[in-house]
Amino acid sequence: MRRPLPLLLLLLLLPASFAAAAKKCQTCKDIVHRFNQGLVETAKKNFGGGNTAWEEKTLSKYESSEIRLVEIIEKLCDSSNFECNNMVEEHEEHIEKWWFKMKKKYPDLLKWLCVETIEVCCPPGTYGPDCLACVGGSERPCHGNGLCDGEGSRDGDGSCSCSLGYSGTFCLDCADGYFSTLRNSTHAVCTACHQACTACTGSTNKDCKECRVGWIKNEDACIDVDECSEETNPCKEDRFCLNTDGSYSCRACDSSCSGCTGEGPGRCKECRGGYTLEDGKCVDIDECSQAEKACGKADRDCVNTPGSYTCVCPVGFEEKDGSCLATAKADGEEAEAAEPPPREDL
Ligand SMILES: *[C@@H]1O[C@H](CO)[C@@H](O)[C@H](O)[C@H]1NC(C)=O
Repeated sequence: MRRPLPLLLLLLLLPASFAAAAKKCQTCKDIVHRFNQGLVETAKKNFGGGNTAWEEKTLSKYESSEIRLVEIIEKLCDSSNFECNNMVEEHEEHIEKWWFKMKKKYPDLLKWLCVETIEVCCPPGTYGPDCLACVGGSERPCHGNGLCDGEGSRDGDGSCSCSLGYSGTFCLDCADGYFSTLRNSTHAVCTACHQACTACTGSTNKDCKECRVGWIKNEDACIDVDECSEETNPCKEDRFCLNTDGSYSCRACDSSCSGCTGEGPGRCKECRGGYTLEDGKCVDIDECSQAEKACGKADRDCVNTPGSYTCVCPVGFEEKDGSCLATAKADGEEAEAAEPPPREDL
């Protein structure tokens, strides 16, 4: 009864070790990238700009020197990058070997170091511990229509994630809403259907096999449904309907309207209370300027507001028990005024 345990453990550990493999390859790629940057940076060094025979001789000596190598290696990793520093330390001898002996014959450091020597990456178009060809072959993984899982690393299973518009294990089929414009055993080109179709044989709304929701078959084409037509208007009161391709939206009527057929004060069905129709638009009524005093009581000031008005106590008075009384502060001001003015100029 103890046999299932190691298998279970292996299954648990497997994804982790695969992810680690991908990370190691990335670390190695980053190192090679920094190495190539270092080559560029040091290329101009020790070179005064002239080209005397003496300078050329010194330069060519420096070009393949240990001094230059050390300068490059020093900058391969940020000090906080543990994985990078670890890898450089572990494989410094390999880097030196390449620098002094292999560089001429194997100029591609990524290939020589990461793929062939420390074996943390795979050649392009291959994946996994043994660098097997991706689905669709290493020349054109996923037939050029997708990404191969683990490509270039020692990670992944080589399966394809197809690009938008493509589907199937080999990314040679067209996804829903796309039609085929080219297809043989190794190449496929899929093109988007017209937005009116869920499936199609060509690119126009006459090539639909089926209309998308919000579109309807009319003669031989799928055309937009007008959700806003009078009988079917789906919007609530005080909102108007806006038809769009394949859909619609409901927008708020202007605040001067009671119901509307479109945007703004000129598209009201009726004017809201406090507004009146003027030149085809609903405009605010100024209750305060009407002959009949809007504020019955004489001691109130009338203030017009959009769609209404308010009656307020005049400045210096405040609302108290239903009438306007002079504010207490007014007394204080009087008291202050009674005091003699400050005398500063004496
Ligand atoms: C498939 O189509 C491509 C693109 O037109 C072409 O280059 C290729 O030779 C074709 N392959 C076959 C097997 O017919």
